[in-house]
Amino acid sequence: MAGADSSWIVIVTSVLQFLIALYPLITSGSRIAVPHALELLLHAYSIPSSSIADITMLDQSHHHQAPIGIFKPYIARQAQTLRLKEKVWSLSGDSFDIRTAEKRPIFKVKGEMFSLSGRKHFMETNGTRLFTIRKQLIAWHETFYAEDPSGNQIFEVRSKFSIGAPKSLCTFISATGQPVSLLMKGELSKKGGNIVDETTGQPVATIKRQLFNKGELFGQQTYDVSIVPNVDMAVIAAMCICLDEMQNDKQ
Ligand SMILES: *[C@@H]1O[C@H](CO)[C@@H](O)[C@H](O)[C@H]1NC(C)=O
Repeated sequence: MAGADSSWIVIVTSVLQFLIALYPLITSGSRIAVPHALELLLHAYSIPSSSIADITMLDQSHHHQAPIGIFKPYIARQAQTLRLKEKVWSLSGDSFDIRTAEKRPIFKVKGEMFSLSGRKHFMETNGTRLFTIRKQLIAWHETFYAEDPSGNQIFEVRSKFSIGAPKSLCTFISATGQPVSLLMKGELSKKGGNIVDETTGQPVATIKRQLFNKGELFGQQTYDVSIVPNVDMAVIAAMCICLDEMQNDKQ
């Protein structure tokens, strides 16, 4: 019977995933791996493996009741598309120029040259630092985190184990006190990806890589990030930068 067959596959896959997740725990004695192992096991049951949804234009009607984000001044009031452009010739690691659809600068991202954790300063246009993105050096899943100017961790972006399209998760406590978990599916280097609010399943943003822009240099990335109203543009832009970095690390 087909039904019985497929449930065996699910059980075997789950057990294998659990054992894989336990591996670093067994070898290193690290306690950090336990939540990951449990998460993987739960994940194997809860989330169906589906292909990436086609990137469609975001519907204006996806309006979130409570704002999702950390930086109130940067919560989008209406649907916004930001263009993130990598600055290839900057000497200081990865730097980005971020503008609105009207070409108005909104954020600046400046990489630090000799930083082991790949520090990138995420700033307002006047140079005021909102946070610094850093890479966690020892992690089972590739992880980036953002530190505010006082050194508090305010959000993290972690790649997730997945079969098929790559997935990553951005987690934080929003300004309203709610824990938020944004799930991104897709490959930036190909079609781009979709970001949804994991709790409600509502779309939050789409990322599209722009290919062969006029004047674009080899290896220079440009992303168009469409964000629905009531969502933090700074957090979504930072998420996109972390995903770009994850992609670079894989190459
Ligand atoms: C920079 O701009 C932000 C937002 O417009 C403002 O809140 C902040 O005070 C400015 N900082 C400086 C140093 O001008």
